[in-house]
Amino acid sequence: MSAVRVHNLSISLDGFATGDGPTPDAPFGHAGERLHEWMFATRFWHEMHGDAGGAAGADHVFAVRHGQGIGAEIMGAGKFGPPGWQDDPSWRGWWGDTPPFRTPVLVLTHRPRPSIEMGGGTTYHFLDASPAEALARAREAAGGLDVRVGGGPTVVRDFLAEGLVDHLHLVQAPIVLGRGVRLWDGLEALEKTYTIEVVSTPSGVTHLTFTRG
Ligand SMILES: NC(=O)c1ccc[n+]([C@@H]2O[C@H](COP(=O)([O-])OP(=O)(O)OC[C@H]3O[C@@H](n4cnc5c(N)ncnc54)[C@H](OP(=O)(O)O)[C@@H]3O)[C@@H](O)[C@H]2O)c1
Repeated sequence: MSAVRVHNLSISLDGFATGDGPTPDAPFGHAGERLHEWMFATRFWHEMHGDAGGAAGADHVFAVRHGQGIGAEIMGAGKFGPPGWQDDPSWRGWWGDTPPFRTPVLVLTHRPRPSIEMGGGTTYHFLDASPAEALARAREAAGGLDVRVGGGPTVVRDFLAEGLVDHLHLVQAPIVLGRGVRLWDGLEALEKTYTIEVVSTPSGVTHLTFTRG
């Protein structure tokens, strides 16, 4: 059976994976870009944006696993767009005409719309379904490869709560956001069901991997 993986999910010291008040110009709300500064310095990020820069050190080695062996992504409505995007028929996500996913992407929303085929191999499918049902659909779409749960925190938390995640990679940035959407609420004692490894890198972030099986 293909694995279910979360990669590069960046959280603050106080456990928030996004800030308050996302808008079309500020996908992470008041957090701005602070959760992902570690990633912008990596070769992974530069390669994704078509240039040769960036460091190929430890942060890159973690980050690049994001796409390896992945055949489909599941994301939440809050990752796909700011509150109210369902009222805008022209909204096609935050990532332009050629999104970085390059696979089918299943967007969980209570207000689904017809699928949208984008450039570079990404197709957005919108569905109102339980996490287990969405995973079954994503596994079909992934053609035997693994499924990434891409966020945001609400959807990752729901998949964790149902025991559906095999590999969770978090990146804790040394910032305190104070408000936003927290990952951990309701996941008491989650650590008991995973093997956890923790690695700090010179950029100042801490990578945590939760691995099952
Ligand atoms: N830190 C990171 O690395 C990272 C990664 C990804 C995203 N983000 C950020 O996280 C934020 C989004 O996270 P979030 O927690 O607010 O939202 P989210 O997890 O992306 O989406 C939650 C929403 O998805 C819909 N949904 C969830 N489960 C569903 C189900 N089973 N059936 C139907 N619809 C379902 C609901 O929206 P409706 O009821 O409106 O349809 C729900 O409110 C954004 O700011 C994004 O930029 C951060």
